[in-house]
Amino acid sequence: MDDQATRLRRLVEGKNANTGRVQESGGTAGAPASGARVIAVTSGKGGVGKTNLTVNLAIALGRKGQRVIVLDADLGTANVDVLLGTSSRQSLMSLTQENVQLEDVLIRGPYGVSYISGGSGMEHAGELSLLQRQAIFNKLAGCDEWADIILVDTGAGVGRNVLDFIMASDEVLLVTTPEPTSMTDGYVVLKACRQLGIAQPVRLVVNRVFDIIESDETAKRLMGTAEKFLDMELQTLGFILDDGNMMRAVRRQMPILAAYPDSLASKCIEALSESLLTGQKQQVKMGWQGFLRKFFHNVH
Ligand SMILES: Nc1ncnc2c1ncn2[C@@H]1O[C@H](COP(=O)(O)OP(=O)(O)OP(=O)(O)O)[C@@H](O)[C@H]1O
Ligand SMILES: [Mg+2]
Repeated sequence: MDDQATRLRRLVEGKNANTGRVQESGGTAGAPASGARVIAVTSGKGGVGKTNLTVNLAIALGRKGQRVIVLDADLGTANVDVLLGTSSRQSLMSLTQENVQLEDVLIRGPYGVSYISGGSGMEHAGELSLLQRQAIFNKLAGCDEWADIILVDTGAGVGRNVLDFIMASDEVLLVTTPEPTSMTDGYVVLKACRQLGIAQPVRLVVNRVFDIIESDETAKRLMGTAEKFLDMELQTLGFILDDGNMMRAVRRQMPILAAYPDSLASKCIEALSESLLTGQKQQVKMGWQGFLRKFFHNVH
């Protein structure tokens, strides 16, 4: 029997066909011909920074004039809500109700972040009838008109749900930290992607690095292993420095870009958003804080 996310994928795939996105049988291929660019943010290990990256990236892209929707696809949790200090009454599954429209589940959150909570409602996806699924699909298709970019915050690991979201997206951002466990688990995701034959570009974001050298080393190791054992070409989008302001912002239930806009991690995420739009190498101006960090090597 199909699991819940398979159904969602079908909904999404159906949406692609309807909106003219380039779609080949067996999965998405390349950039969309029209409509929103759908980017899955995923990781092997949990807690490596996906939700923070997704929400802050949405803010950064929004500031650059992009219309962004975040889909909180980490089933069973409501991470995006927690990070924004909000609580959404309606989730994706509410769309099965006749009187609920996309505008009702598409939450205009604080800091200009628009998001749809997949959350707890997704647990009931398996019980949906064909008519209900069609209702969700039809309403969800409207996202294309609302957004230039849809960021999908998936759960961690290689569960079917996560892989379904990856397969349904146009691009994948794989988040890892330099920790060996995070890299090993990241490799497992790549292996699963390879086995599923996904054609989408997968790009690395190395989070919680001390400096660019550590980011390069981490990326090089993972890229080398992927090439050697999986014959898979991996790109790097960029890095985010380890920054105590991230934890402080989370405690305040605020995205770091709003709480500490001048922090090093905020600058990295802004630079990442630029790379995402231009395809160019991440350029981070570290400024005085960066200088001090390098100079007093041990101080975090
Ligand atoms: N660049 C960073 N510098 C310092 N701490 C960070 C950084 N990025 C993330 N963290 C810490 O890691 C925690 C987990 O981040 P986040 O919730 O975004 O991870 P996740 O991958 O979405 O987790 P999950 O797999 O549970 O959904 C944050 O609360 C924060 O304390
Ligand atoms: Mg998360």
